[in-house]
Parts: sequence; structure tokens; C-alpha cells
Amino acid sequence: MSARPIVIDTDPGIDDALAIMLAAASPEVDLRGLVAVAGNVGLPYTSGNAAALADLLRLDIPVGKGASGPLWRRDIDFTPDVHGEDGFAGHSLPVSTRSFEPGVPLLARLIEESADPITIVPIGPLTNIAMLVNEYPETARKVERFVIMGGGAFDVLGNVTPVAEFNIWFDPDAAARVFAFGVPITMVGLNATHQATVARKHLPRLFASGGPVAEIVGHLLAGYHNVGVDMEAAMPQHDSLAVAGVIDPDVFTTVPAFVDVENVGRLTSGMTLVDRACESGEPNCDVAVKVDVERFRDLLDSRLSALDASLRQD
Ligand code: BDR
Ligand code: CA
Repeated sequence: MSARPIVIDTDPGIDDALAIMLAAASPEVDLRGLVAVAGNVGLPYTSGNAAALADLLRLDIPVGKGASGPLWRRDIDFTPDVHGEDGFAGHSLPVSTRSFEPGVPLLARLIEESADPITIVPIGPLTNIAMLVNEYPETARKVERFVIMGGGAFDVLGNVTPVAEFNIWFDPDAAARVFAFGVPITMVGLNATHQATVARKHLPRLFASGGPVAEIVGHLLAGYHNVGVDMEAAMPQHDSLAVAGVIDPDVFTTVPAFVDVENVGRLTSGMTLVDRACESGEPNCDVAVKVDVERFRDLLDSRLSALDASLRQD
């Protein structure tokens, strides 16, 4: 089977970095581009981090600079408490000299140029994707699927508020637009990602390898320490679980549901309403539910260690 063409829309971000590395390391997917969006930190940092990662991984792909903030919300604060001021918890990579393409036109170009339908993996706020849908609706309809890290269902709903996950909460208007658009969606929400926890001890081959990927991943995992987390504690790898689901569909199971996003609620803004009975609408989403955590950790460790070895040899 030929590799599935994908584009990652991202706000790197510690777990975003691992997700991009996993995609770059996996022959099942053909990573065609990275598009940055504001989220974990501002766009100058997320775009700079995306380009720096592309350099580190020697990716010959375009890097786009997309939206610098939500479609409408103006009361947003960034989250330096989780990812640090620079998005990488103070462990920035060498500054890239790459030039950036405008992000939303780049998404459209990559979709149009691909012989096979593209899978888009948004692992940050959905602002760029909503702009794609609004500005290039016919192009956006050619997308195979959006595999979105965002939201929460059933037992785990929120991490910014009791009912809202960060990526959806940051730009609920964009998220509502994307979920209503009609392209198939896989939603990898907190109920799934909180099962996908990883600590250093779960990546033994990577850390035995000791190359550039091991070095930065070691720093990034330790970065969570800055927010008061035990260095050996296993933290959810939200974004790489979404990428893992594209590489290996057996990493998690899904259930069909109708999903809508609350974007006007006083207390519930950014909540994903997940209706399994589909009483409020036709199913528009496959919602990740049960994660095979050993399979996920093994995938991360085997792929990142192989990537590390290949970069060390060159
Ligand atoms: C999501 O928010 C960000 O902090 C992470 O990178 C992830 O995409 C988890 O809620
Ligand atoms: Ca992210």
C-alpha cells in the first residue's frame, strides 16, 4: 500500500513536536507539509518551532504560517505554564532560515496538488482549518479526513475548563465550523489521550540510541517538569496519538457520533457535545474511545529510535 499523504496543522508545543517526529519517522504516511497556527504560544514561536523541527528532521517540505489568533475571540491568553514561553519549555532548537508560505493557501495548494486525497491532522486550534473551509470550500471537500486532536467525550471533557479542551476552547467558532462542514472527522479527544501516557521509561530504545531526537525528546519530556510534574511521571501525548491513529488504526477504537461545539455558552464555551445516540444530528465523527497504550508506546519508541539512528549516521 502506498503511503497516505498527510499535512499536519500544528502549534508546537511539546507534544506537537513528538507528533511531527512520529509522522516523519513512519513510512505509512507521506508528510507533505507543516502549517503553524497560534495556540500553545504565539504564531512567531509556533511557526519558528515548526521550521526548526523541519530542519532537525531534514524534511524537504513547505512550512506555512497561518492564523495568529482565533477567528473571533479576543480574550485569549497563551499557555506558557504548560509549554513554556517559547513552546519548547526553554529548549528551543537552532533558529531556522527557511521562508514560510502563507498557511491557508498552502493547505489549499497541497490538497489540490495531491493525486491521492490528503488527510489533514490538526493538532492545534482549528483556526486555519476553518479558514480553509470558508475560503476554499471546494478544495476542502477533497480532503479525505480530518484527524483532529481536540475536545473530550464521555468521562474526560476538559483541561482548560471542566468541559473544554484547549484546542477547541482556544477557537470554538473555528471548531464549530469544521465539525459542521461534512468532511469525515476522527476526533481524538482527552478521553483517549489521557490513556496515552508516556514517560522516559516507555522509550528505552530511543534513549539508548542517544542521538539528536533522543536529546530533544528528553528535554521536552523534562519540560513538563517545569509545571510541577514528576520527571518520571507518564504524561498524555495528546498530539502524537492522533498521528499514531493515522499510521496504525489499531492504536485506538472509535465509535460513530454526532459532534457539535458549544461556541456561545457562558459556562461551556469550547465544549464538544458528543451525541452517541445521534438524536441531535447525523453521525459526523468517529470518536476515539479505547487506546491500546502498549501498542502506542511501542510505536513511538520504535519509530523515534529508528529516526534517531538514521539522523545520527548521516
Ligand atoms: C492540546 O493542547 C495543547 O496544549 C497540546 O499541544 C494539545 O494539542 C491538548 O489539550
Ligand atoms: Ca498541539
